[in-house]
Amino acid sequence: MSKLMQKVSRLKRHKATAIAPANIAFIKYWGRVNEELRLPANSSISMNLSEAYSETTVEFNKKFKKDVVMFKGKRMLFSEANRVIKHLDRIRALAGLNLKAKVETRNSFPKGTGIASSASGFAALTLAASKAAGLTLNKKDLSILARLGSGSACRSIPDGIVEWKKGKTSKKSYAVSLFPASYWDLRDIIVVVGARSKKVGSTEGHAVAESSPFYKERIRGMEKKIKSIKKAIKNKNFKRFGEILEAEAINMHMVMMTSEPPLFYWLPKTLKVMQFVIKQREKGVKSYFTIDAGPNVHIICQAKNAQKIVRELKRMEGIKNILVCKPSNGAFFT
Ligand code: PMV
Repeated sequence: MSKLMQKVSRLKRHKATAIAPANIAFIKYWGRVNEELRLPANSSISMNLSEAYSETTVEFNKKFKKDVVMFKGKRMLFSEANRVIKHLDRIRALAGLNLKAKVETRNSFPKGTGIASSASGFAALTLAASKAAGLTLNKKDLSILARLGSGSACRSIPDGIVEWKKGKTSKKSYAVSLFPASYWDLRDIIVVVGARSKKVGSTEGHAVAESSPFYKERIRGMEKKIKSIKKAIKNKNFKRFGEILEAEAINMHMVMMTSEPPLFYWLPKTLKVMQFVIKQREKGVKSYFTIDAGPNVHIICQAKNAQKIVRELKRMEGIKNILVCKPSNGAFFT
């Protein structure tokens, strides 16, 4: 991180709050070339989500004897808090600050379900903690810093539809906005079919991706795929865009299922919703699915079709929650 870009200001209050959206990847990040720095094997493309966000407050105070991390008013387990504390350490080191912190966070959605809670969580934490520590960072540096906490968090910093350029070094691996949130009236209908936290999280998942016999082939085709989807988005060619993003999700899950150990994130209901989307298309309602490291299905459609799809979905059994998201801006201070 460039020293010129940071400025440690004199602080009156070491406290700040930020909100950051989750994001849904159309072209996914799965597999890394550098574990420590979370440098991805490929670039990825995503959209920030209006109704799925984290709100985080960070306070540094000399009265605090140790770091405390609260999630929805409850102390977080050490295993989870540890990753947050490591991120605080990065920020304290940058700011030359030696104070313990209290972190309070809440999500608008259940965590560990395939809605990217680590993305919104680490993006909000990065903004709140860096401001509370007296740092003034630009969007690029915030994206780099968020990436070190959780890869996909770097995409929750810029606005709208975003590209995370893989980059060869830490300084070059960050996300930028491709199109503003208002560019295309898309919807992501998040269909929650399982709300329990997943057994194998993405951190472990990235580490085994390479063991899949299909991994190399996946990475080989990435640049071309990214070029094609960017063109489809630019031309607002929804059919082409949907076909690419749906095939991409299946491609990533094939790598997951064929890695050692194999990772199965789908539940029977996941497949039912996938079949539902295919049926909708047969009926002329254009929509496509994508799935992250969890059982929930994200149905991507145009605004004009969202209500109709939701109405039909409500007739299906076993759906725990439906969240309709618009494209949104990236992280901001409150
Ligand atoms: O940022 P992580 O380590 O939670 O990885 C995210 C992985 C996927 O959600 C499956 C794909 C993506 O690009 O968001």
